[in-house]
Amino acid sequence: MAKIGVFDSGIGGLSILNEALIEAPGNDYLYLADSANTPYGEKSTDWVTSRSLALCSWLIDQECDAIVVACNTATAQAIAQIRETFPQKVIIGVEPGIKPAAQQSFKKIVGVLATQNTLASDKFKQLLASLLTNCEFIQQAGVGLVPLIEQGLLSGPSIESLLHQYIDPMIDQGADTLVLGCTHYPFLQPVIDHIYGEKLHIIDTSSAVIKQMCRLVPITDTKSGSVGFYSTSQGDSLLGLAKKLLNRHQLIDARAHTVHI
Ligand code: DGL
Repeated sequence: MAKIGVFDSGIGGLSILNEALIEAPGNDYLYLADSANTPYGEKSTDWVTSRSLALCSWLIDQECDAIVVACNTATAQAIAQIRETFPQKVIIGVEPGIKPAAQQSFKKIVGVLATQNTLASDKFKQLLASLLTNCEFIQQAGVGLVPLIEQGLLSGPSIESLLHQYIDPMIDQGADTLVLGCTHYPFLQPVIDHIYGEKLHIIDTSSAVIKQMCRLVPITDTKSGSVGFYSTSQGDSLLGLAKKLLNRHQLIDARAHTVHI
């Protein structure tokens, strides 16, 4: 059974872990949230890179065979250095699903909601440049959303007012498709669906990320593995949110730990 480390600045990567538990339950998972330092979305590239390397190094010390960088921001800013530093490990990243969005948008106008750092990164600019498409992308930083989601707020006036501020102008410009370019945002999909209904088709790449993980780390076990939760702030609160957000039977016996990295 493979041991897989999954990390994010906080609880966002749980949207990726959720897919992993559905599609690849036969692995052991260590979920690591850098909750003491969330959010990453507006921190410097050097900071995010050195932090990501420290978290990966810790996961490797726990004998992880592979690491899922379940954070668009850390992938955009640090995955090249992570792969260079740990060449012997399988490293899987995430990126905004602009390619499927361009294919699926009828009007060829797509909104991209991601962190400021993801949108400003060279990696994202290269991804945009690599698409041979006539699709227009309306880019918007979701400043302020992650801290609210970290508190477990997934609906209500503060979330809805930020969503209106960021998404209404996309709709006004004709967008019919929205890319969720931050792993925290899939937890807002119910409220986005509630506000915009059929006006917006949502693109979330969590499932594609886990399919790629399964190609690189083939599942060898049929029985379910274990899941452990590690937070640089409060392990218990991470586990509480994970149980509430994922509602999976695999988490009944999961343990929480607070770690200092
Ligand atoms: N969940 C992360 C991402 O996908 C990080 C967001 C943040 O910490 O600002 O970008």
